[in-house]
Amino acid sequence: MVIDSCQERAERRFRLPVRRALSLGVVGLLTAAGVLSLSGPANAASTLGGAAAAKGRYFGAAVAANHLGESQYAATLDTEFNSVTPENEMKWDAVESSRDSFNFSRADQIVGHAQGKSMQIRGHTLVWHSQLPGWVGGLNATDLRSAMNNHITKVMQHYQGKIYAWDVVNEAFQDGNSGARRSSPFQDKLGNGFIEEAFRTARAADPNAKLCYNDYNTDGQNAKSNAVYNLVKDFKARGVPIDCVGFQSHFNSQSPVPGDYQQNLQRFADLGVDVQITELDIEGSGSAQADNYRRVTQACLAVSRCTGMTVWGIPDKYSWRASGTPLLFDDNYGKKPAYQAVLTALGGTGGGGDDGGGGGGRTCTATYSETQRWGDRFNGQVTVRAGSSAISGWTVTVTLRSAQSVSTTWNGSPSWDGSGKVMTMRPNGNGNLGAGATTSFGFTVMANGDWSAPAVGSCTAS
Ligand code: G3I
Repeated sequence: MVIDSCQERAERRFRLPVRRALSLGVVGLLTAAGVLSLSGPANAASTLGGAAAAKGRYFGAAVAANHLGESQYAATLDTEFNSVTPENEMKWDAVESSRDSFNFSRADQIVGHAQGKSMQIRGHTLVWHSQLPGWVGGLNATDLRSAMNNHITKVMQHYQGKIYAWDVVNEAFQDGNSGARRSSPFQDKLGNGFIEEAFRTARAADPNAKLCYNDYNTDGQNAKSNAVYNLVKDFKARGVPIDCVGFQSHFNSQSPVPGDYQQNLQRFADLGVDVQITELDIEGSGSAQADNYRRVTQACLAVSRCTGMTVWGIPDKYSWRASGTPLLFDDNYGKKPAYQAVLTALGGTGGGGDDGGGGGGRTCTATYSETQRWGDRFNGQVTVRAGSSAISGWTVTVTLRSAQSVSTTWNGSPSWDGSGKVMTMRPNGNGNLGAGATTSFGFTVMANGDWSAPAVGSCTAS
């Protein structure tokens, strides 16, 4: 009973506004409902977050606080995503490096940013064997139990009402074929019951947050995912609070997207929990990578309790896979074929870029950079790149922040909407661009105190 009413409350807060907006057929209302951050109603289905919202889901990214000051990073986050997960800032070593002394400053930065854009926030993570300060491993069982419960309670209460779903316990099972528990201070000193205790403590600390178990290599049916499945089944049978299971979905050639990915998500959903894709990244490039991203997206859409997807970073250069290219944006924030594949699979349109499908359609991408700054103004430049086919025209929308205005533009023909904040730029004369060729246009923004990058929408080719 208690579990059901908690779930219902969380549902009401986070999902009903989405459904209501959809039933009215007005995606733009989502912004007004404070649920989602979209770059503007006109762009609603041309961003990952907008397209996912139209399917009743969120599309999130792992975010690092120290990148938020980079204008293109923040602009891409704000334009494309409607959910964030702090990549490291909520982990035990970041918030409680000394016992019972909490520092939420870096995590608060991300939460503040996300709240300012009405994004959902996933909390990651409360109980994990990694990124655990040394003092935790030195405690005896009694002290460890109290430290674990104190950590869960204080962190969740700090963020009460702000977190959509928490990864309460992360990666508690071993790799390989045993399905056994992983050795950790919690497992070794508190025994198998530590997971249940963590979830019960979490429910008491913030009854409105969804409580998830999160792990990797559980994406297909195997010994490890069977062990998690049995844990969830047992919890549901005994009334232990659990609302969701996170499938990290880190894929590479050794660990490809499993053939039974969707079936695996579905069998967990059938236990009565939500499922979420929590840390998606896929090694590779071009159409092979795009195909894998497409499959993952389609699998989530095919499972009604798959409530959203999170990619583990924004541009490739900030991926935890140091030399990899596993994300949706390249190092210059260009949209990769994988981006276009995800957007198309979500039912979105006009995201620019080539989806790697070899269709040869006319596509383009738009990439923003700030090129110069003075005391009161800055220059922005947008590079337009044709996809795999030649194009004869392009359109890019630039949305200013509310305080900003544009004093001059060059290398393009602008038109403005009634608000004076949305500039639609087209070629000044001949718009021909060969396959892969680039051109650029620029503009001077009067900052009026807001130095954020304007939101640059996707490029539409003709
Ligand atoms: O912040 C310090 C910096 O001050 C120091 O100079 C530098 C030197 O090593 O380290 C920096 O901390 C690093 C931190 O990332 C922030 O960049 C840590 O060493 C590094 O270990 C840490 O890696 C994180 C990793 O978890 C830790 O296990 C990755 O960024 C993060 O993406 C990764 O995320 C995990 C999920 O939480 C759980 N699932 C797997 C996933 C990928 O490994």
